[in-house]
Amino acid sequence: MKNRIRAAAMFVLAASIAAPAFAQSAGAATYKAKCAMCHGPDGTAATPVGKMMKVPSFKEPAVKAASEASLIAVTKNGKGKMPAYNGKLTDAQIRDVVSYIRTLEK
Ligand code: HEC
Repeated sequence: MKNRIRAAAMFVLAASIAAPAFAQSAGAATYKAKCAMCHGPDGTAATPVGKMMKVPSFKEPAVKAASEASLIAVTKNGKGKMPAYNGKLTDAQIRDVVSYIRTLEK
């Protein structure tokens, strides 16, 4: 009986630790599938397509200074040659992928 309670507690603990990690990896997966060909796996846009389209690096001060809301807006609505993802990705996917972009800015 005691063991069962302990197992349940461990499960709850593991699930609560896993949740943010899952959001992180969901963002990473979306990024690799939809964004990396232009923005580069590391966000510096050092890919042939990135160079051709003059995609800005996510490490640029202007991008670092941009608010979460404005990065979400660009992802949703597009900008210049940047395609719009409204309707192609859910709001949750866009939020996750923008959080992932934040990790590439460093
Ligand atoms: C076809 C190439 C291409 C793809 C695919 C692409 N982007 Fe972009 N992205 C661009 C270009 C080009 C710009 C620069 C737009 C401008 O400033 O005119 C840009 C700019 C951005 C910016 C704004 C950065 C800034 O200058 O403030 C964000 C945020 C962004 N992209 C996110 C994403 C996300 C998230 C994805 C994947 C879901 C993605 N992009 C996929 C080409 C692309």
